Amino acid sequence: MKVAIAGLGGRGRDVYAKSALLHADKMEIVAVADIDPKKVALAAEEYHVPKEACFLSAEEMLKEEKLADAMIIATQDRQHVDQAIMALEKGYHLLLEKPISPDLNECRKLAEAARHSGCKIVVCHVLRYTPIYQKVKELLDSGVIGDVVSVMAAENVGWYHQAHSFVRGNWANSDETSPMILQKCCHDMDLYLWLTGKTCESITSFGDTYLFKEEKAPKGCAKRCFDGCKAREDCPFDAEKIYLDNKVFGYRKGNRIWPLDVLVPSGPTEEKILDVLKESRYGQCVYHCDNNVVDHQVVNLNMTDGTTMSFTMCGFTPEISRYARFMGTRGELRVEMKQTAEDCEISIHRFESDLPVENIDVASLAEDFTGHGGGDDRMVVEFLELISGEKEESSYVTSLERSLESHYCALAAEYSRTHGGRPVKIDEFAK
Ligand SMILES: NC(=O)c1ccc[n+]([C@@H]2O[C@H](COP(=O)([O-])OP(=O)(O)OC[C@H]3O[C@@H](n4cnc5c(N)ncnc54)[C@H](O)[C@@H]3O)[C@@H](O)[C@H]2O)c1
Repeated sequence: MKVAIAGLGGRGRDVYAKSALLHADKMEIVAVADIDPKKVALAAEEYHVPKEACFLSAEEMLKEEKLADAMIIATQDRQHVDQAIMALEKGYHLLLEKPISPDLNECRKLAEAARHSGCKIVVCHVLRYTPIYQKVKELLDSGVIGDVVSVMAAENVGWYHQAHSFVRGNWANSDETSPMILQKCCHDMDLYLWLTGKTCESITSFGDTYLFKEEKAPKGCAKRCFDGCKAREDCPFDAEKIYLDNKVFGYRKGNRIWPLDVLVPSGPTEEKILDVLKESRYGQCVYHCDNNVVDHQVVNLNMTDGTTMSFTMCGFTPEISRYARFMGTRGELRVEMKQTAEDCEISIHRFESDLPVENIDVASLAEDFTGHGGGDDRMVVEFLELISGEKEESSYVTSLERSLESHYCALAAEYSRTHGGRPVKIDEFAK
C-alpha cells in the first residue's frame, strides 16, 4: 500500500515510518509532511521520498490530488479531526493517532464524516494489538474466571515519564492538548471495555495536580534547572538527572531512543542533550511550568450489566506499567504489563482450592515486544492488511466506532472530575 504520513515526530517518523522498513513488501512511504523542515528533510532522506512529495504541513499535502492509498495522521491531539476530515474527502483510508480529539463535538463530527466516506479508519489504541492483552482477552473469553464482576486497574505513569510528557512536555496543558485522562488513559478505557466486552453506563471521577505547581517548589529552586538552582541536589526531577542519569531514560545509562530523540530528533549525544536542556521546555523546573493536567486521578465505572470497574492513573510510581485484577465468579486473573516481556505477568487464581495458581509465560507469547509491548508494529500490519483487503476486520481492530466509546468514557470522567465528582451517564453525555 502507498502511504502518506502527516506529522513526523515521535510517532510519525520514529514508529510509523520505521514500519515501512520492516514491511517493505506491504508498505511504501510516498509522501511526508511536517511543519518542521528539518524533520521533513530527515524523513525524506531516510525513506527516499522525492522532493515534490515533501510538504511543510499536512494541510498543504492535502491540497494535492490523492497521493496514496492511506494516510497516517500523527500530528498533535487538537489537529487530528480537521486533517482527518480533509483526508476522508480525498478518499484516504486513515491510521489516526489517538486521541481522536479532546472536543466531544469534534469526535461526533468525524464519526459523521466517516459514515459518509466509505474509507476505513483505525485509531491507534496499540494495547489491543499486544501479545499480552490478546492472551488476557482469550483467557477471559474462555470463561476461566467465570463472569467478570469487578475490575481494579491502574496505569502507573512513572514519575520521570510524568515529568517529561505531562509537566514539561507536549501534553502538560490541556488547553493546548488534552486532559490527562483522555491523552494517557483513553488506551485504558478502550482496553478494559474490550477485554471484558462490557459497556459503561455511568462514571464518576476525582483527581488533581498535587505536586507540580509553584506553591510546592522547594526553597532555593530556580525557574530552570541550569539557572543556578539551589535545590538540584535533592530534586529527583532535575533535568540532568532525568535525561542523563535515570536508569531508564538516561543517556549515560545507555539509552539512545525515546524520550531522548524527542529532545534531539537527529540523534542524541550528551553535548546536544545538555544544549537542549539549557534552552528548551525540557530544562524547566517542574514547579514552574505551564502545566495544568492532573498528576493523579481515580475513575469509577458502573457498567450496564451491574458490574463495576475502578481505575487509577498516577504519576507517582517508580516504574511505567499497567496493572489489572479481573475478579470473576470462579476466580481472579491478574495482569501486569511492564517495560520488558520477561517482567510482564499474567496469573490465574481459581477458587477451587486444589487448583494451583497458573502463571503464563508472557515472553513466550511472541518474539517481538518492541514498541508498546509489540503493539505498534502489529497494529500497522493489521491496518495495511485491512485496507488492502488481504484480511477481514478482526473483532479487536480499533475502528473509529469502537474507539469513540473510550473517548466518551474519558471525556465523561474529565467532566465529572471538573464538576466535583458528579456522576455522568455515558449515553446522555455522548449524545
Ligand atoms: N498510540 C500511542 O500509543 C501514542 C503514543 C504517543 C503519542 N501518541 C499520539 O500521537 C500524536 C503525535 O505524538 P508525537 O509524540 O509524535 O508528537 P510530536 O510532537 O513528536 O509529533 C507531532 C509532529 O506533528 C508536527 N506538526 C504540527 N503541525 C503540523 C501540521 N499542520 N502538519 C504536519 N505536521 C505537523 C510537529 O512538528 C511534530 O513533528 C499525538 O496526538 C499523541 O497523543 C500516541
